[in-house]
Amino acid sequence: MTKKQYKMITCKINGKERTAVVDVRASLTDLLRNEYSLTSVKKGCEVGECGACAVIIDGECFNSCIYLAIWADGKEITTVEGLVGPDGELSDVQQAFVDETAVQCGFCTPGFILEAETFLQKGKIYTDEELRKLLSGHLCRCTGYENIMRAVKKAMYVRNGVEAEQNNR
Ligand code: FES
Ligand code: FES
Repeated sequence: MTKKQYKMITCKINGKERTAVVDVRASLTDLLRNEYSLTSVKKGCEVGECGACAVIIDGECFNSCIYLAIWADGKEITTVEGLVGPDGELSDVQQAFVDETAVQCGFCTPGFILEAETFLQKGKIYTDEELRKLLSGHLCRCTGYENIMRAVKKAMYVRNGVEAEQNNR
């Protein structure tokens, strides 16, 4: 293996500046899991189909299995670990997933939460159809999606100050 196959990158991961020497062929999933033990980033299909490996990069949700680690140079990356408060408090979206029993095996959960976090930051109220479309890149084999929808809607209404009765449940 020649030296050219490795490159030094610097990025911010969950608020911390990180420098790493990465194999130019490595995925961001592998960098996050293997170098930084961020195991909320799941390895599912590894071909960009299931959303289990999703992370937020500069404010947008991406499947990290099809995102090269070298592309993360200069970027800001957030995983589910980065949503947790300093004393381990769950974020509002995480809490809504707990409250609505939207987690079973949990394999898909970090991806759904990060996707929801990304679009909820826009401060908009979405219709059910829009939410389904926004979440459609994520597969869940356990929950049947209804509780996930309820959790995302709950977080959306709370963030936007909409009364719980309008939560259409
Ligand atoms: S593991 Fe990346 S999309 Fe399935
Ligand atoms: S909770 Fe098991 S895949 Fe979604």
